[in-house]
Amino acid sequence: MTQSAPSKRPRRSTPVSPLRLRRVSLLFTPFSLPSPNGGLTLANRIVIAPMCQYLAEGGEATDWHLAHWTSLLNSGAGMLTIEATGVTETGRITHGCLGLWDDLTEKALANMLHRARKLAPPVPVCIQLAHAGRKASSAVPWQGGQLVRLDQGGWQPLAPSALSQLPAEAPPTAMTLDDMAHLRDAFVNAARRAHRLGIEAIELHGAHGYLLHQFLSPIANQRTDAYGGSPDNRMRFPLEVFAAVRQAFDGPLGMRVSATDWVDGSWDLAQSTEFAVRLKAFGCDFIHVSSGGASPQQKIAVGPGYQVPFAGHIRKASGMATTAVGLITQASQAEGILQAGEADLIALARALIYKPRWPWEAAAALSATVTASPQYWRGLPREAQSVFGNVRVGQR
Ligand SMILES: Cc1cc2nc3c(=O)[nH]c(=O)nc-3n(C[C@H](O)[C@H](O)[C@H](O)COP(=O)(O)O)c2cc1C
Repeated sequence: MTQSAPSKRPRRSTPVSPLRLRRVSLLFTPFSLPSPNGGLTLANRIVIAPMCQYLAEGGEATDWHLAHWTSLLNSGAGMLTIEATGVTETGRITHGCLGLWDDLTEKALANMLHRARKLAPPVPVCIQLAHAGRKASSAVPWQGGQLVRLDQGGWQPLAPSALSQLPAEAPPTAMTLDDMAHLRDAFVNAARRAHRLGIEAIELHGAHGYLLHQFLSPIANQRTDAYGGSPDNRMRFPLEVFAAVRQAFDGPLGMRVSATDWVDGSWDLAQSTEFAVRLKAFGCDFIHVSSGGASPQQKIAVGPGYQVPFAGHIRKASGMATTAVGLITQASQAEGILQAGEADLIALARALIYKPRWPWEAAAALSATVTASPQYWRGLPREAQSVFGNVRVGQR
């Protein structure tokens, strides 16, 4: 079957019917993430999106992470992204967030990750390095997720400007140039630690209203120095952080962005596209396109694949490897997005919690194969016997 002409391509984000799918599924075609060290090949285009677990202790990974990562590494996905990981202690969103800022947090992460990787087929791992900015010192979601004040055991957050996320909250402290230099170094140090423990790829968290996104967005950044005001100025610090990490890490390095704040007159797709083009010029290998999170005023048009058009736009303009994410739940939907040229990779979060073997089912639906641990080879239903390829099991 040949691909249809551009004008007849499926509408954006619309699942394509199985009859219109290419015979060889793109979702299950390997993809090479470029990088200065020669690139990283993923067995398929399914990426496990970063998902905070809020169960670290003092930033250190725990048994929960061992169980969680082991399960996800056995999902059949092409790459696992470790949750938003604080590059400083006060850059965590909550007391329970994972960190990578000192030897103890590095040792704990190494221990749990190495053990999880021993219990699964080889799957590349990416880590999302993050600083929460004015959203730091929050309660975990199941305790309401609101700002934890100093007198409640929280800490004073740092941010581009002394502007709180919500009107009734105490403002964060506006960062000095020294604070910014320190933070840039913290990102670099965390990247070095990640590399040391064998993590293959790094995603900088520039989305969802956290620190790097706060610098980009005029809602959170009202600085009057060279780091605020014009789009050029607002992009300056995130680009400096990116460039510094690029110097220190030669594996695939990308950034997650919020393509729009969903607020009129704020950070939008045009600025995100320009930012992506500049990131590429600084050596960025991939961009992961999400949206929102900077303001409670946001009005998000949520629906299946609602962020995919942003990914498609940024991909075409920047020529960068692009990950689409957000309410992608069906194999045919994911396949249709790739076939329409709107992304190179598909990230899933909630669908993989709900169905931890989602990639197995997707492979069955698209007549493709995934790699699984031999212990699970007998676990396929009769109608999906070929999902693991030509594996053979015997008994007597
Ligand atoms: C439990 C949970 C934790 C999340 N933690 C993070 C995170 O650490 N970093 C991040 O960028 N996004 C985080 N997200 C957002 C997801 O990565 C993803 O962008 C979002 O859920 C939309 O994708 P989905 O529709 O496939 O769930 C989280 C989402 C969930 C459900």
